[in-house]
Formats: sequence, C-alpha cells, structure tokens
Amino acid sequence: MKVAGLVAGSAVLTACGTSPSTETPAPSTASTQTDELGDPVNTFEDITNYNNYYEFTTDKQGVAELAKDFPTSPWDVEVYGLVINPRKYSVDDLVKKFVPEERIYRLRCVEAWSMVIPWLGFPLAKLLNEVKPTSDAKYVRFESVFKPDEMPGQKQPFYPWPYQEGLRLDEAQNDLTLLATGLYGGELPAQNGGGIRLVVPWKYGFKSIKAVVKIELVSEQPRTMWSDIAPNEYGFYANVNPEVDHPRWSQRTERRIGEFKRRETLMFNGYEDQVAQLYDGMDLSVYY
Ligand code: MTE
Repeated sequence: MKVAGLVAGSAVLTACGTSPSTETPAPSTASTQTDELGDPVNTFEDITNYNNYYEFTTDKQGVAELAKDFPTSPWDVEVYGLVINPRKYSVDDLVKKFVPEERIYRLRCVEAWSMVIPWLGFPLAKLLNEVKPTSDAKYVRFESVFKPDEMPGQKQPFYPWPYQEGLRLDEAQNDLTLLATGLYGGELPAQNGGGIRLVVPWKYGFKSIKAVVKIELVSEQPRTMWSDIAPNEYGFYANVNPEVDHPRWSQRTERRIGEFKRRETLMFNGYEDQVAQLYDGMDLSVYY
C-alpha cells in the first residue's frame, strides 16, 4: 500500500471539509504524541489523504479531493427506536453537552493497513445514557448520510446505500466506543466522516461508520452493509483478530502507514484488557 505524495511532517494542509468561514485553528501537521503502546500518531496528511470512504470513491487517495466541498456543518443526528427519550441532536448540541476529549486510537483496516489517530470525541455511552434504551434494546444500528448528488460513489448501484453498521448494546456502551467530532485538535474533516462518525478501535475499520445521521436502538442484530455484500468475508462482530484470517488474506500482520516493515497484528487491536470480557464463551472464529 503506497501513500504517494505524502511527506511526513510537510506543512501542506489539504481539504479540511469545513466551510471556509468556519474559524478552526489549523491543526499541526505532525505530532510527537504516541498511543499508550508508544506508537507515534500518524501525520495529519496521512490521516486525511488515505481514506476509505466508498460514498465518494474506492480510490483511497482520491477521497480528500472529492470530499473537499462536502458540507459537514450544520449536521444532525437522530437517535430513536427503543429509547425512552428519542431526539434529534445537532453536532453543535452534542459537543456542548458532552465536551470532546482527545483519544489516541489505533485504526486497523480489514485490508491489513493501520494508522494511529488522535481523535476528538465523547463516549457513545454518554449519549445512550441520555436517550435511555428500553429493556428491549439489544443492539444499536447506525446509518450514514445518503446524498448521491454530493457523494459520487453513491451513484454506484453495486453498493446497497446507505452505509449501515451495528454494535451489540454492551459494545456500544463500552468506554472505548467513541463518537468522534474532530481529529488533531481541529474539526472532523469530511473525508474522515464529518459531521460525526463512530470509532470502535478494537474492531476492523469498517465498523467505524462515517457521517452518521441515524442511531437506532433495536432488538435484533441489524443488517450491515459489508455483511450484506459478502457475509463470508465481513462478519457482524469484525473484532481485530490475528488468528482468524480473511478468506482472501492473512490477518496476522499489518502495514502501519508511514512504516516500512510489517507489524504483528494484536488481538482486539491491543485493547484486549478493555474488551475481551465482552466475548467470554464465544467462538470468535464463528462470530467473526
Ligand atoms: N463509513 C462510511 N460511511 N463509508 C465508508 O466507505 N469505510 C470504512 C470506515 N467507515 C467507510 C466508513 C473503512 S473500510 C475504514 S478502514 C474506515 O472508515 C477508514 O476511516 P478513515 O478514512 O478515517 O481512516
């Protein structure tokens, strides 16, 4: 996986996905920060120019350019279904209520590349506490925005738009599960899923759904876009697991963007202590 034209630490800021009138402090383009394992965070350039976002294009290095005029603010999210207090929130309301904190997480794509990203966000659990799931709620379903006139990839009929994802309720309530509204100390660029996106760091990146507009509490395991397309390749759980290969490639190692040598992939992407108990007694080669 080649990241052409990206120079670590260079000062070229590209598409930020926010309207030019928005006063956002320019994020520094490289950081000396590390995650809790000591791995350095990726540069802003890497994080914002190497993206999976099929609503725009399947070309990772083409997303930023196609997303540069995509409006990410104002942005609304509707939270509904099996909850006592259904409500539509604007992202502005959410960041006032649940002040975003910085979380440095590894993102491990199912395609076996990875990055370390300094997100700004708040635990989804805080929002769930407020809407109060009923006792029938067992899963959370997420839906991305559907705007084919602004997102050229959504004109590709092959994909069953809109992008959908889901979590079990206890996974959604885990403290690691974040709703991200920014990165690198600034707003969330369109290409990374602005207005607001989910980040579930112990699962393959496709679970971390971008541009979320609907969060529905449901009683049954929801359908998800990738498991609708290829259920034998992309399961509902999608926990990072070096022991369970993808049918077409090994998941034992990964390429960290910006590094030359491949790394060993860690069980649950290195978050085993925080999440392994969620899967006690489950055969993770069956529930992949
Ligand atoms: N969300 C939507 N709506 N559409 C997508 O194509 N791609 C997923 C995930 N969320 C995707 C999405 C995949 S495969 C990955 S690896 C991550 O977003 C990539 O996030 P990043 O571009 O911010 O690194």
